[in-house]
Amino acid sequence: MPMDNQKEETVILMADVFCQLGNKVVLNGIELFVRKGEILAVVGISGIGKSTLLKVIAGLVPFQRGTVQVFGCNLSECSEEELNQIRQRMGFVFQGGALFDWMTVAENVAFPLKIRDSGLTENEIMERVRKILDAVGMEGTENLFPEQLSGGMKKRVAIARALAAQPELILYDEPTSGLDPVMSGIIDELIKQMRDQFGVTEVVVTHDLASAIKFADRIAMLHNGKIIAEAPPEEFVRLSNPVVQQFVQGEAFGPLTEFIDRL
Ligand SMILES: Nc1ncnc2c1ncn2[C@@H]1O[C@H](COP(=O)(O)OP(=O)(O)OP(=O)(O)O)[C@@H](O)[C@H]1O
Ligand SMILES: [Mg+2]
Repeated sequence: MPMDNQKEETVILMADVFCQLGNKVVLNGIELFVRKGEILAVVGISGIGKSTLLKVIAGLVPFQRGTVQVFGCNLSECSEEELNQIRQRMGFVFQGGALFDWMTVAENVAFPLKIRDSGLTENEIMERVRKILDAVGMEGTENLFPEQLSGGMKKRVAIARALAAQPELILYDEPTSGLDPVMSGIIDELIKQMRDQFGVTEVVVTHDLASAIKFADRIAMLHNGKIIAEAPPEEFVRLSNPVVQQFVQGEAFGPLTEFIDRL
C-alpha cells in the first residue's frame, strides 16, 4: 500500500492539555489523538477527570494550557461560530442524560435535527426519531416526558438524541452505567455499528472494561491528570504498568478473567 493511503485523518488531537477546575488540577499534560473512524475507550477510576476530558474536547469546559484540535480546528483560537460548527458535527451523551425536562422523548431526540438545517420535513424527522428510538429499545415512548422514565431509559433517550443528527464524532460519557447487562450489550453493539456502518468516530468514557474490550480499537487510561497508558484491548489488559494492572485486576472478576485469558 502506498504511504499516502496509510495517512489517517486525525479527528481529535490533544497536546500538553492542562485544566484546573476551582483549585483542583484535573488534567495535567494530556496527550491524546483519535483517528477518523476509530473507537477510543477512556477508562479510569471515579473522579479522575474522564467527564472533564470529554467536556474539554466538546469545548464545554475551558482549559488553561496546551492544544486541543477537533476536526483540524484549534479550540482555543476558534470563534464562537466555528465552535458551533464543530459542535454541529458531534453528538454528546452526557453522564446524567441531561434531557430537557419540558420536552417529550420525541422532542428531545428531534432537538438536534431541529436546531440544524437538516433539510428534513416534520414527517421525515419523526420517522428518523422513531427508528432511532427503536434501535435503543425505546419504541413507543415518544410522548412520555423524562420524569416518567427510569434512569436507564433516560440514558437510552440521551443516546438516541446524540445519534439523531448523524454526527461524525460521538462522545459518550458512561453510556451503559445503570443499564442491565442485556441493554448494555445492545448499546455496546450500537456503538460498534455506528462506526462499522457509518464510519463515525467515537470516544467512549466507561468504567466497564469488559465492554471497552468488546468495542474499542484502543483503550486509554486517565490517571493523575495524564494518559498513562494507551493500547489496543488485548495489549492493554497485559500492560505491566501497576496502575493499569490494578484497574484490570479490580475489574477482572468471573467472566472477564476468562475473557482476557482468551484474548
Ligand atoms: N466545576 C467544577 N469545579 C470544581 N471541581 C470540579 C468541577 N467539575 C469537576 N470537578 C472535580 O474534578 C474532578 C474530576 O471530575 P470528573 O467529573 O471529570 O471525573 P470522572 O472521572 O468523570 O468521575 P466519575 O467516574 O465519577 O464520573 C473531581 O475531583 C471533581 O470533583
Ligand atoms: Mg464522569
